This record gives sequence, structure tokens and C-alpha cells, in this order.
Amino acid sequence: MSSEAVFVPSEAVVSRTHVTAEQYGAQYARSVSDPDGFWGEQARRIDWIKPFTKVKNTSFEWPDISIKWFEDGALNVAANCIDRHLATRGDQTAIIFEPDDPKAEARHITYRQLHDEVCRFANVLKGLGVKKGHRVTIYMPMIPETAYAMLACARIGAIHSVVFGGFSPDALAGRINDCDSAVVITADEGRRGGKSVPLKTNVDVALEDCPGVEKVLVIRNTGGPIAMKGSRDVWWHEAAAGVDPVCDPEPMNAEDPLFILYTSGSTGKPKGVLHTTGGYLVYVSLTHELTFDYRDGEIYWCTADVGWVTGHSYILYGPLANGATTLMFEGVPSYPDAGRFWEVVDKHKVNIFYTAPTAIRALMGAGDQFVERADLSSLRLLGSVGEPINPEAWLWYHRKVGRERCVVIDTWWQTETGGFMISPLPGAIPTKPGSATKPFFGVQPAVLDPESGKVLEGEASGVLAIADSWPGQMRTIWGDHQRFKETYFQQYKGFYFTGDGCRRDEDGYYWITGRVDDVLNVSGHRLGTAEVESALVAHPKVSEAAVVGFPHEIKGQGIYCYVTLMADEPASDELAAELRNWVRKEIGPIASPDCIQFAPGLPKTRSGKIMRRILRKVAENDYGSLGDTSTLADPAVVDDLIANRKNR
Ligand code: PRX
Repeated sequence: MSSEAVFVPSEAVVSRTHVTAEQYGAQYARSVSDPDGFWGEQARRIDWIKPFTKVKNTSFEWPDISIKWFEDGALNVAANCIDRHLATRGDQTAIIFEPDDPKAEARHITYRQLHDEVCRFANVLKGLGVKKGHRVTIYMPMIPETAYAMLACARIGAIHSVVFGGFSPDALAGRINDCDSAVVITADEGRRGGKSVPLKTNVDVALEDCPGVEKVLVIRNTGGPIAMKGSRDVWWHEAAAGVDPVCDPEPMNAEDPLFILYTSGSTGKPKGVLHTTGGYLVYVSLTHELTFDYRDGEIYWCTADVGWVTGHSYILYGPLANGATTLMFEGVPSYPDAGRFWEVVDKHKVNIFYTAPTAIRALMGAGDQFVERADLSSLRLLGSVGEPINPEAWLWYHRKVGRERCVVIDTWWQTETGGFMISPLPGAIPTKPGSATKPFFGVQPAVLDPESGKVLEGEASGVLAIADSWPGQMRTIWGDHQRFKETYFQQYKGFYFTGDGCRRDEDGYYWITGRVDDVLNVSGHRLGTAEVESALVAHPKVSEAAVVGFPHEIKGQGIYCYVTLMADEPASDELAAELRNWVRKEIGPIASPDCIQFAPGLPKTRSGKIMRRILRKVAENDYGSLGDTSTLADPAVVDDLIANRKNR
């Protein structure tokens, strides 16, 4: 082992673990040498309506990209997440709901109640005309009804597309139209940090551009005032009154779609990442159990929003497939103060806690008194996800939250991967602060030379690719298989390209360094620079825009925008503020620019390509390594950029 800080699993961790170090080595080797044998066995952890006879049928060979797992099997995800637990744990809590307002009462929903709620929801959807294969857009706050809605879709074979409640009406409209949803599920309002989020009103605005939407199902959450539109809008409580709490689960082929989830890429509009039924469920269930070392009866809390993949895989599908108790939190870490997370941990005796580095850094900055006043003795394991975790934050998490007693696991994965890819297994893999450590079973990471694509062996830095398929992998981009192939498989033939940079150290540990493409990671939220640019140029006073990320203490990355105005349009602080609001309105608050610099020109090559490398360096205040600027059409542009750089 290298000389950096290494945390070896304690006796207590090793004695309870699902996977020891020896088992990890042997099972990993088998998972890659005999994927059919390994995954064929693992897939029996879930219930199949019709057993599969084939396991893996996948090709990364350009241009014949095709991914199928368990392709002749049939199952239902909702039945696996609910029905099969009823006999043994019908009265166990499936979901603990902790509301935004700390004074409001928490709710405990048992598996039996979950069954009834989901069946009722499914029957209401059927009543609205939703059938197997239809797309349903869900634009909801973090309340149990969101879980019911997702599971109800899964139960009847409808494909859900959850859109994060923080997205703007425009962003919502684009996602509704891309997958032709005829039904949208929303709530009157959401509640976060004591403030209302006008979800239904946003839907009303979005639907002005969505001619295909026929029905909007509205859940009464806050009771705030909203407009209901004629025959289009339906109150959930009215539609559900007297509806049968029994609905037979639809048998789904393993490769039938389960959900679409939009995520940002380096170019163009967000991509509808498509996940299917069998492989996804096997993968999220196995990763949830082994990576969190989950045991029956434990209380598990993932703080993500269900609008992101973390919420899909590790609030809902993974934990429920394993019969776990999963906590859903409506609020934010800072409300009413920076002690809220820890109060919730103590209140519900949470054993496993999973959050993002940006939250850890923000809470660390708020002062230790908030975490020190909490008990936290229920905690056993702490997880991190969404962006690279800096060693300082890792160590604070370990010392202050984990009281040097809890395992800390840094899980690297993506919307596209469905579940964990590189992460410690608590009893098997010693951890190093800042490293996601080693691959999960069946995952074959490769470090490639970015230019030549050559596979680098041993200690190396480069781009991260994956050499073969795993069951949780996305299958395509909704409606655009060609884009799927080009985005992930064209650049490095024979590999799935992750878009991330990484280093592998002398112990074979992986250290993810962040995106190498034009994707930003702002507070763990993924955002395409192209999306922010197109929002900016949609403003009548903007002629051109280029957006780059810069290192930000709390958010990981901040958003720096270079804006060229239309001729004769004067730059001003007011206009900068107006543009900031404009982007928030176009995309949502997560895309709010940190800096706007007005620039008379952008650095371009003679062929007109914007040199982002230079823009990144200026934003980072790093002029020593601007590189060769002589190829620019107008090298003087760079001097102006430097002279007018905004302090952040
Ligand atoms: O850059 C990596 C970063 O987040 C990207 C994936 O974002 P998204 O699809 O929104 O999924 C986030 C939750 C899985 C990756 O390409 N990322 C995610 N987890 C980590 C990470 N970077 C470093 N370390 C991580 N643990």
C-alpha cells in the first residue's frame, strides 16, 4: 500500500461484511471471466415471472452497439419492490417521510400501505388511459406520492420520466415533448427550506408548448392556490376516491424500458437516458446491498432528489428491491439551520447516510457546532456521490460525522451507468480519502491515453472508459440510438467512454478527476455548457456566449459566462443581473451563472472555433499556461479578456 492515508476496515466491519477482501478478489475475477455464470446467479436475487435462459448479449464493437441482459426473462419491478416483501415484512416501514418543516409530523409507510397506494395510483393512471409503453412525466417534490407515481408506472409498464422539480417550465416542456408524454403528474406546490416551489404553475406555463399532453394529475401537497384547467387537470384525491387498491403487475420483458431520465451532455439538448427492467433491477439491488453492506432492519437515508439518478437507483429501486427502510427527505441541509441533517439522523436512528460532497463542504463551512451537538451514534456507514470529494471534506465527514467509527465510501457512477461502478466494498477494500477505490463486480475500467486511445497499464493518468457491459448500463438515448453510439462509443472504439478523467495509482486505486468534456458539475448537478450558452444567446441583447467552469469552494464548479452583446448594446451590472435571471428562468436556479464577463470578442481559431482552453484559464485566473495563442484569429482578444476578468 502507498504511503497516503489508508483506512483499513475495522474488525467490526469485517465481521459483518457481505464480501471479504478474499471474496472480492475471487468474485471480481469470476465476474469478468465468466459474466454469464456470475450474473446468471446474481439475477436470481429478484423474482422472475418467466425465468431467463440467456444472460449477456452485448456488443461494444463499433458500429454494432447493442446491449441486452436476461433478454428472454419477464418480471415486474414494482412487484419486486413491494409484493414479494408482503409475506415477510408487510408491516415493516418501507418509506420514512421527513417533511421540510421540522415541526410537521414524519410519516411511516409500511410495505403493505405502499402496496395499496401504488395499486391505487396505478389504477388511476389506467383510468386516465395510460398503457404499457406510454411515457409519463413526473414533476414532483420529494414526497411519498412521487415514489407511488414512479412505482405505479413500473407496475403497469408505463415509462416514467422524472423531471427535477427545480427545472424551469422551458426545461420541463423540452423533456415532455422529447418523449411525447400525454400525461404529467405534479403537485400544487413543493416545499423546500420553508419556501414554496410553484410546480403546478410551472406545468401550466410549460404546457403552452406541449400540445401532446392530455391529462395532468395533480397531488394536493401544500394546499396553496392553483388554477385547475377544465377537463385537462385532475385532482389525484378525487380520481383516487373509491379506486381499487389491487392492480395486477404487468409482466415486462427484461429489456422493456423502465424509465427515461434526461441528463446533460457536452453538446445539444439533454439526452433521454433509457434504462430497462431486468438488468437495471438486478444491478441496483446488488450494488445497494453490497456497497452499503445493507442488513435487514437498517434505516437507510440517501439525501438526493428523486429527480436525479441517485434518487431513482438508491432512494427507490435498489433499497425497495432489498426490502429496506428508505428515508425520503423533502427539505434542504441548511433549513432551519445547518444541523438539520444530523437532527434527522438522530430522530430516525439512521444507520446508513448517503450524500454529496457539495453538502458536506457547505456543512463543514457552517461550523462544527451543528454536527457536534448531535448524537449520531446510530450511524454505521457514510457515502458520497456526485463529484470528486476532496480529502479535506472526506476527512471532516469521517471525523465529525462518522466520529472516526464509520466507514466512508466514495461511489463513482453516472446516470448512464444505472448504479455504482467504482466504490469501496466496506469490508473488503481499504479506503483512501478522495479515491473511489476499486471497480464493482463485472466493471472493467480502462485508463486510456486521451489522444491515441491507447490502453494505459499500471499507474497512469488519462480518460476513463469501460471495456465491457454491465447489467445496469443504459441501453440507448430515447429516440436517438445514433446519438447514443456516437456519444459513448465512437471516440474510443470498443469501449464505453465515461467523459471523466482519472488516475490509477500504484495500488490500482482509481481517482476520478472530473469531466474532460464540456459538461459542468455544479453542486453535483450535471449541466452542459452548451445549454447555458443557448439560454444566453436566446436573450435579445446577446450576440454570442461561451461558458466554462471554474473551481468553486462549495459547489465544486462554478459557472463563468463570457458574453458578447449585440452591436451598440452597452454592458452594465444591471444587464449582467438580468442575464443571470434570464438563465435561471430558461433552465432553472441550478444553472444560475456565478460570473458574467462582457467581452467584445471571444478567442477563436481562424476557422471560427472558440478556444475554450483559454477561456477556462482566464476564468481560473491562471495565465501562466495559456499556451499558444498565435493561432487565434485575433490574439489581442485575450488581453482584453484578462484585463476585464471578473473576480469571483
Ligand atoms: O463526473 C462524474 C461525476 O458526476 C458525473 C455523473 O453525473 P450524473 O450522471 O448526474 O450522476 C451523478 C450521480 C451518480 C460523472 O461523470 N461523479 C459522480 N460521482 C462521482 C463523480 N466524480 C467523482 N467522484 C464521484 N464519486
